[in-house]
Amino acid sequence: MEQTVGRVLVIVPTYNERENLPMIVRRVRAAVPEAHLLVADDASPDGTGEIADELAAADDHVHVLHRSGKQGLGAAYIAGFRWGMAEGYDVLVEMDADGSHQPEELPALLRALAGGADLAIGSRWVPGGKVVNWPASREFLSRGANVYTRMMLGMPVRDATAGFRAYRAATLQKIGLDDVESQGYCFQVDLTLRTVRHGLRVAEVPITFVERTVGASKMSRDIIAEALWRVTQWGVTGLPRRLRRSRR
Ligand code: GDD
Ligand code: MN
Repeated sequence: MEQTVGRVLVIVPTYNERENLPMIVRRVRAAVPEAHLLVADDASPDGTGEIADELAAADDHVHVLHRSGKQGLGAAYIAGFRWGMAEGYDVLVEMDADGSHQPEELPALLRALAGGADLAIGSRWVPGGKVVNWPASREFLSRGANVYTRMMLGMPVRDATAGFRAYRAATLQKIGLDDVESQGYCFQVDLTLRTVRHGLRVAEVPITFVERTVGASKMSRDIIAEALWRVTQWGVTGLPRRLRRSRR
């Protein structure tokens, strides 16, 4: 299957994930042995970066990108995408370090790309998608964010904030990364919107998202505020084009 999508790089952003990183690397290596991994660490104070170096020294499929400090999930992914595209990978995968995105479900995402999608999203909010062990408050936030996003942006995507995805390198080249301003988790919505606006094909693959058992989420009020502000702004500036489309 790997042959049909080309060389795959799984990018795992980390901030204080020392207890999770060895587990996720082991599971990715077992589930998709041909794929390479890039850990994008923002100088985690807990020493995740050193653990990543040890994992990379022991396995030529594991690479590390050390960043100077905590600059947000979006910034870490963009740096990872740039690294992977310069190295000639054909597919760039996003995956959390905490086990919420199950590496065993990655082949299904890659199959969607092989089937013609330009972006495959591991979706919680399509039939067959699930969330395990999330508090009601977090489910409310995610569902609410997706309802608001759909209303403001009019995208036919059920889980635009999802963080388990596979992009073709060609997709990232077409949508362009140079002017992406999103720093936090709204980066996910940002790139989904760009992909849709470029007329590229988005496939949503149902996944089971499993809440982490070790470590803490980095979701914060600032991240929510950035997302709310940016989605609103994209919605308003995109209104003329939506109206033009609906008149046709
Ligand atoms: N390098 C880096 N820099 N990594 C980060 C940063 C950062 O500033 N912030 C978070 N991460 C890493 C975490 O270490 C983890 O591996 C991954 O990004 C996801 O962070 P979590 O804090 O576990 O996210 P979550 O579980 O609350 O949110 C998940 O769901 C969101 C949507 O509901 C993620 O999958 C998000 O991407 C997604 O938008
Ligand atoms: Mn998480």
